[in-house]
Amino acid sequence: MPYYIQRLYRLCNASFSSDGPVSEEVIEKVREKLERIKPSDVGLEQEAQLVRNWPGPVLERNGSHQSLPPIKYLHLHECDSFSIGIFCMPPSSIIPLHNHPGMTVLSKLLYGSMHVKSYDWIDAPGSTDPSEVEEAGPHGVMIREAWFEILKPLGERHPHIFHFIFPGLVLVGHRGSENSASLSFGLLIEMCCAWKNTRPAKLVKDTDMTAPSPTTVLYPTSGGNIHCFRAITPCAIFDILSPPYSADHGRHCTYFRQSQRKDLRVNVELDGVTVSELTWLEEFQPPDDFVIRRGLYRGPVIRT
Ligand SMILES: [Fe+2]
Repeated sequence: MPYYIQRLYRLCNASFSSDGPVSEEVIEKVREKLERIKPSDVGLEQEAQLVRNWPGPVLERNGSHQSLPPIKYLHLHECDSFSIGIFCMPPSSIIPLHNHPGMTVLSKLLYGSMHVKSYDWIDAPGSTDPSEVEEAGPHGVMIREAWFEILKPLGERHPHIFHFIFPGLVLVGHRGSENSASLSFGLLIEMCCAWKNTRPAKLVKDTDMTAPSPTTVLYPTSGGNIHCFRAITPCAIFDILSPPYSADHGRHCTYFRQSQRKDLRVNVELDGVTVSELTWLEEFQPPDDFVIRRGLYRGPVIRT
């Protein structure tokens, strides 16, 4: 009987392509399989046992925090279609908000407790990718606003022409022809693009998780594609990504933080529904003390 991890690998190999999961059904099959994985299946039984006897939060000694081991990533497998790995986090360590562009991610907390917070972008098909917009600054925003006043009638009467002339403004063109409330949403998106790399997102999850907890699945545009973890106890997260991060294919891992700007709106109207409690996220460089080291995987080796 092959090791559990070998059977999981075979299922992933049959379920994922370089474009991601081949169907919704296969995601469910992998999720079910992942649901039953145990620390002992991946050589982490000792670590899991330590957490069961874990005494509590790290205490301060002589006014300074004990130095903690770094976050470790145990690499199990990577190909064009998917990657499998485990993040082992010491208590109080944080993996900052980061995205998984165009990716589906299945995660299983193997042992320990952590706090997870996740967001999805508030966006619409055809809206401009902020990473492709040059920095415009406050004057750029003013010019864009003026444009909208002038071009709004054109967008309302001829959305397709409008799109043709101003491809970056497709959202405004189409939505503006439907109702003026949605136009303000389009304007907002454009304005946030002008403030380079600041985008509105909605909160999906803000909760503590303790193993054993259900496998979570996030999708390219839903389920909390942007997330962060804070370890409450030592903990380990088993991750399957499909397709994997790939700089060659534009799937970079980007880190974000909540924008400190006070002048950004907290509500927008989208398709007649008010989306409240927006969070504006901006790209940032994680602090220098955020380090993920490659750890030694001691479980059964996957044979490809
Ligand atoms: Fe992640």
